[in-house]
Amino acid sequence: MRVRLTILGGGGFRVPLVYGALLGDRAAGRVTHVVLHDLDADRLTAVSRVLAEQAADVPDAPEVTATTDLDEALRGADFVFSAIRVGGLEGRAADERVALAEGVLGQETVGAGGIAYGLRTVPVADDIARRVARLAPDAWVINFTNPAGLVTEAMSRHLGDRVIGICDSPVGLGRRVARVLGADPREAWIDYVGLNHLGWVRGLRVDGRDELPRLLADPRLLGSFEEGRLFGPDWLRALGMIPNEYLHYYYFNRETVRAYQEAERTRGAFLRDQQARFYAQAVRPGTSALAAWESTRAEREATYMSENRDTAGAGEREADDLSGGYEKVALALMRAVARDERTTLILNVRNGRTLAALDADAVIEVPCLVDAGGAHPVAADPLPDHATGLVCSVKAVEREVLAAAASGSRATAVKAFALHPLVDSVGVARRLVDGYTAAHPGLAYLR
Ligand code: G6P
Ligand code: MN
Repeated sequence: MRVRLTILGGGGFRVPLVYGALLGDRAAGRVTHVVLHDLDADRLTAVSRVLAEQAADVPDAPEVTATTDLDEALRGADFVFSAIRVGGLEGRAADERVALAEGVLGQETVGAGGIAYGLRTVPVADDIARRVARLAPDAWVINFTNPAGLVTEAMSRHLGDRVIGICDSPVGLGRRVARVLGADPREAWIDYVGLNHLGWVRGLRVDGRDELPRLLADPRLLGSFEEGRLFGPDWLRALGMIPNEYLHYYYFNRETVRAYQEAERTRGAFLRDQQARFYAQAVRPGTSALAAWESTRAEREATYMSENRDTAGAGEREADDLSGGYEKVALALMRAVARDERTTLILNVRNGRTLAALDADAVIEVPCLVDAGGAHPVAADPLPDHATGLVCSVKAVEREVLAAAASGSRATAVKAFALHPLVDSVGVARRLVDGYTAAHPGLAYLR
């Protein structure tokens, strides 16, 4: 059987992680062809060299081809992974910088930075989704492109439930909470719900019993894992839930903004410089592209454990939490869909009737049963009011971003920034739109 996976953003730095996961899959029905698509031919060359070295000693490794032609890449695809970064890491650095200069959070996916990234990305994701609907109507689209919830929702307007968004952060959190409770992460049911990068663990059931109260009652246990230290035992007990690490930007906003303003450079700027070195090395004749990739990756992963990582997750992570394992989530999802192997994964899908405070088309992040029919959200208890409030505010902002991308209205873009809980003035929102449109050619459509 021929199974074809198309990777959009195929010249991306994390593509070898995905290919590595595919190489480890020996079961029937596995991916046999990988098509890499990227706008940048040099990045494709660099990453293709890494993959060729990865495949060198593996019998029946998935065949890899590369193209800069999007329609050609999509035709005949069974699965499409979208992992693009519109504007590149230079764009990410500008998202961070412009917001921090205004005194608000400058971060890849949260707050003003995330809105700017969304405004840039939605028109591109929209175009991709339309093409997939035309050229590969039976394909499943797995979206890692950030801001993942918003981008998945944009694509779902063309693809319905055939697009599924993924993120590694809920799995990582669930795994850490399970471990600290002495439970096997594979056996435990993680009761998690929210939006992407805005969710909470409300319970962890083992054999039907909720073990989370035991964790919340024990300051020593709370102090022994990343989120426990990040938020502090008192705040976690007050909440009665364990938030996704990205909630740190909301609950400790001033502290993070100040720390980032004082940092020597932003995460985006760090990665931009680091990856530029990798892409230059990887195409140099006589060098091993794989060795260059591995050493760059090791250097990047070391920053996950240091203070200068921009996400709230700075701190010590277990070795297998490094780089989150999003390729594992992607592979597990593909296997479940392609082989009808029933499994449960926390994914970004349309709400349906899961959270009553949101409409059916709102994309949320929630445990889903996955099988050949796709991902089906599992009914979730309502969130407490304060969390529902945040979820509804941020979803309203996402909707303004979608509206601004559709109409090209600058006023709607201002509204998106102004309504965000982490942007504290309409005046700031106006200046952010000025700053971002000046920094990003990809926002020239806003009038
Ligand atoms: C986690 C998040 C991703 C995000 C990434 C940033 O994996 O789930 O959505 O893109 O962190 O990591 P980076 O190394 O690029 O700062
Ligand atoms: Mn994520």
